[in-house]
Amino acid sequence: MNSHPVDPVLVDVARAARRVVVFSGAGMSAESGVPTFRDAQTGLWAQFDPTELATPEAWDRDSGLVWAWYQWRTGLVRRVQPHAGHRAVADWASRTQLSVVTQNVDDLHERAGSDVVAHLHGSLFSPRCSRCGAAHPTDGGVDTEPTGPLAPPSCESCGGAVRPGVVWFGEALPEDAWTRAVAAVETCDLMVVVGTSAVVHPAAELPILAARTGATVVEINPEATDLSRHISHTWRTTAATGLPALVDAIGGDR
Ligand code: OAD
Repeated sequence: MNSHPVDPVLVDVARAARRVVVFSGAGMSAESGVPTFRDAQTGLWAQFDPTELATPEAWDRDSGLVWAWYQWRTGLVRRVQPHAGHRAVADWASRTQLSVVTQNVDDLHERAGSDVVAHLHGSLFSPRCSRCGAAHPTDGGVDTEPTGPLAPPSCESCGGAVRPGVVWFGEALPEDAWTRAVAAVETCDLMVVVGTSAVVHPAAELPILAARTGATVVEINPEATDLSRHISHTWRTTAATGLPALVDAIGGDR
């Protein structure tokens, strides 16, 4: 039993929902120990704006630096665990029709037991050739923070440099993931938006689309965001506190 208080209006909305979308961003993984994009960075990365490392231009300029950054993030994600919020989402999905749409490139939702409908920004675990696009086996990242650039591996098919399987700024989202996300959003009656600053488009448009098509949109985030004023419910709490409390409250007297 979770004793964190939940707004009764929110509990009613969540109980009545027949199709739910959980839309997550980097804040969803923060309490597992994965830094968000817009948090201050430490170590080698303190001198870089992460949004500047996540661009095709950064890759063209210094692929070793970009590869090292993603290898570090991959290793870090491998070493951390999903938290109670990830598990609550998986638990909720076992009781109602629920789709997880995420901007996150980690696999913490999956490791907690959720099927992810769409990884809108790709995955750390699907590197591919930057020249021919062939998939490259994941090597699990690095155990310690790199102190400098790491040369990307070579493609086994064509010898091109292998790049992270993530979407960079200025690149298109994977079409199939976007189509699945829109389909889930357009048919949901409740969208729970967790841990996103909602500033990166087109992903940030999904909560607006949900609201426009008649869904209730609830934001779980300790801070106000650009989205907050457009939606009906905002809850200033964290993913690992709010989600288990909400799922407990819904299940309470069924
Ligand atoms: P951001 O780093 O922009 O935002 C993280 C959000 O999580 C902020 O609004 C925080 O207030 C919130 N937050 C922090 N801790 C939290 C917690 N414990 N529980 C709930 N919320 C918390 O991350 P995103 O919005 O995911 O894209 O960023 C969107 C995209 O920009 C990323 O997918 C990535 C990035 O650059 C690409 O790489 C293309």
